Amino acid sequence: MSVPYLKDYNNKKLLMVQEKPFIMLAGEVHNSNASSAEYMEEVWKQAEALGMNCLLIPISWEMIEPEEGKFDFSIVDGLISQAGKRNKKLGILWFGSWKNAECRYAPVWVKKDLERFPRAQIVKGENQTKLKFRDNRPYTTLSYLSKTTRDADARAFGALMAHIRDIDSKENIVVTVQVENETGILGTAREHSDEADALFESSVPEDFADYMKAHTESMTEDVRKEVEAGQTGRTWRERFGSTAEEIFSAYYIARFVETVAEAGKREYPLPMTVNCWLNKNGEEPGQYPSGGPVSRMHEVWDFCAPSIDMYCPDIYVPDFCGVCEEFTRRERPLYIPECATHSYAGPRQIYVIGHYHAIYYAPFGFEDMGKPFSAHQGYLFGMDVTDPALKVPQNVEEYAWYTRTLNEMIPLLADKYGTKELQAVCSEQDSSDMQFYPFGVRAVFEDPVLPRKDGVCLALKTGEDECYILANRCCLSFFSTDPDRPNTDILLMEEGRFEYGIWRSGRRLNGDEAVFMQYESPVLLRVQLFVYA
Ligand code: DGJ
Repeated sequence: MSVPYLKDYNNKKLLMVQEKPFIMLAGEVHNSNASSAEYMEEVWKQAEALGMNCLLIPISWEMIEPEEGKFDFSIVDGLISQAGKRNKKLGILWFGSWKNAECRYAPVWVKKDLERFPRAQIVKGENQTKLKFRDNRPYTTLSYLSKTTRDADARAFGALMAHIRDIDSKENIVVTVQVENETGILGTAREHSDEADALFESSVPEDFADYMKAHTESMTEDVRKEVEAGQTGRTWRERFGSTAEEIFSAYYIARFVETVAEAGKREYPLPMTVNCWLNKNGEEPGQYPSGGPVSRMHEVWDFCAPSIDMYCPDIYVPDFCGVCEEFTRRERPLYIPECATHSYAGPRQIYVIGHYHAIYYAPFGFEDMGKPFSAHQGYLFGMDVTDPALKVPQNVEEYAWYTRTLNEMIPLLADKYGTKELQAVCSEQDSSDMQFYPFGVRAVFEDPVLPRKDGVCLALKTGEDECYILANRCCLSFFSTDPDRPNTDILLMEEGRFEYGIWRSGRRLNGDEAVFMQYESPVLLRVQLFVYA
């Protein structure tokens, strides 16, 4: 049996599949598409046309356990076989007790048995069934305190992972698994059942309180202040002040998820992730799912859910790079399971690999790539509809070019992960210099005539004076980083591509194309420089 795993590499992580590094250049399929293998035929074609090497597909609890204790894995088998035939990998998304902070994908026998599988009580004393939620729909989130729900979910997930092990541990088509989808509770910061109130009024478990006290350094500032000010031996409120209710929810949700993940890992220990519905500026817990793995709750999740390898942001907000910073500042690997498909989707893919050395990047609902965004979609995805990026769809050919080019370069890229020899800049960031030694690469995105909002440049240094550059919508120049040799000259610049790891040269660029290089479509260059006194 071989199991894909995360390898420590130059203080970063690499996903290893059959002892080779694999960067997931993926797309997440729309929620319902993978429920029909027949429907997926077209989706696979789209993935192929976009050059993707991997798809993220939901497998739901309701589909694999339609009757309690009776499992049906036919859909799993069909999807794995489809992926295998196309030489693609899969990241499975387990839609269990949570899907977007609700329980839409729990089986009918769970949904209908409100006694055994209680819903979260979000308001004291109210009849839950009368409560209305977003869009006037009934409130459906399952209680995170229910051990019965947790154990039923864990049993199903364990059975799924055992099945994947049985059919796939030789080929390794499935390479990662997301446990649940956007956990948390909406409408309130914590549950309000009698049980929840009693727990909230009791003492915080001592080992957890100690852990929080010992890990304030990495915390977001608001949480750190509250934890530092907290008293010992007291209730959640006394320990964690204004952040107590969210921490309480995170504690119980992460422990629930840990039980599920652990049951799966016991069967087949694939790298496991959780994705995150982000907290937007100024939102209170409950306006976003309280207790989910937002950055401010990472220390709680670390303590409670050690089986989870990565916390992954679903990024629909305009400040894409800010979110990436927040999710990597604790030296964690970057793994983006969902982001927008507008015109920044392609450049962002290059940027997260070149700058953050990301393991995984997947625009959500990639089937729509190239189509304009509708207001409805903007609302559904929680997007800022005033974001001008939404107006421009991603050029599909360009996206495919980016993905194929990166795919061919995986061994080269992965080799440089965790080093300064792989860098990237993009027009969403201020900095445009990539400093190596003894030279640097400058990508300028501003242009008085052509507005550039989706420019990107990745540079990979392969020798003392040599690098590969992947660029689009920018001007390039080079500079010396050696004060004793301040001059730089271009010795060689050629377009080209990699094929099975071999560089195939195209045009040799010189004259106008080398002195004033301005790229309006994607290009891969091999450059040799001369740095001299
Ligand atoms: C985030 C969820 O995780 C996805 O499954 C999908 O529902 C998107 N939102 C779009 O609404």
